[in-house]
Amino acid sequence: MSNNLLAGKKGIITGALDENSIAWKVALKAKEQGAKFVLTNAPVALRMGGIQELAKECNTEVIPADATSVDDITKLYTESKEILGGNFDFLLHSIGMSPNVRKGKAYNDLNYDWLQKTYDISAVSFHKMMQTADKMDIMNEYGSILGLSYIAAQRTYPFYNDMADAKALLESIARSYGYHFGKRKNVRVNTISQSPTPTTAGSGISGFESFYNFAEKMSPLGNATAEECADYIIMMFSDFTKKVTMQNLFHDGGYSFTGISEELIEEMK
Ligand code: NAI
Repeated sequence: MSNNLLAGKKGIITGALDENSIAWKVALKAKEQGAKFVLTNAPVALRMGGIQELAKECNTEVIPADATSVDDITKLYTESKEILGGNFDFLLHSIGMSPNVRKGKAYNDLNYDWLQKTYDISAVSFHKMMQTADKMDIMNEYGSILGLSYIAAQRTYPFYNDMADAKALLESIARSYGYHFGKRKNVRVNTISQSPTPTTAGSGISGFESFYNFAEKMSPLGNATAEECADYIIMMFSDFTKKVTMQNLFHDGGYSFTGISEELIEEMK
């Protein structure tokens, strides 16, 4: 159901790979709520997924951009401004990848070249997206910028490997850039710390199913779905959250503040 929460708003949505992607759901909901946006993903991802179909459904275009390349981001913004007919009100960073995770390297046997890639793709790209937007002065006043995080940024989840450190950096970048963007342009910057979600990135983590089930039993409201995450993102892009900035916002059914649940105690008996 549409309340036109994003009527007249323009933006960029990264990271829609397939229909399970959090960004995919965001695109459909943003369209439903009246936003205009451009979709983007890494050139290699465009060859794999059905993002062109999503673009058709959302009446928009896809511009390939590797989020680690400032040149690609600059081109993305320049062309998107042309397509959308103006500056942006929202940016979604929904990007994560670790070559160490993908190739099964343990945390105590990391390949450091790959570690740099993990940081660059999963965290520094957030800074690059913001610094480029800042330099091009392409964000409208009271715009909203969001990244997606996971609780392993703050507490140890051994299976999350070097992505845990990348997420800690991502959350720190949101705080640091949030200050600068807030002061200069009244733009807000936040991260949403989402429940485990069955997507390509999520299920690539070893033991995903077990920790998904564990989190489901631990959370009083149960795990938050990709669809529910998209709803939260829409609210964060709307004018109802104008003064929320520099935060890491838990969207996890209460998981992060639950010590233990009765279901889990039962299982330990
Ligand atoms: P996904 O696999 O559908 O999305 C990840 C996206 O990152 C893909 O579209 C991929 O093509 C893109 N990407 C990778 N390298 C890139 C590059 N160099 N340039 C541009 N794009 C690139 O998975 P999901 O779950 O929708 O991931 C979105 C975000 O949510 C990620 O930041 C992820 O870490 C985060 N997240 C996911 C959770 C989960 O359990 N699935 C839990 C908490 C956070």
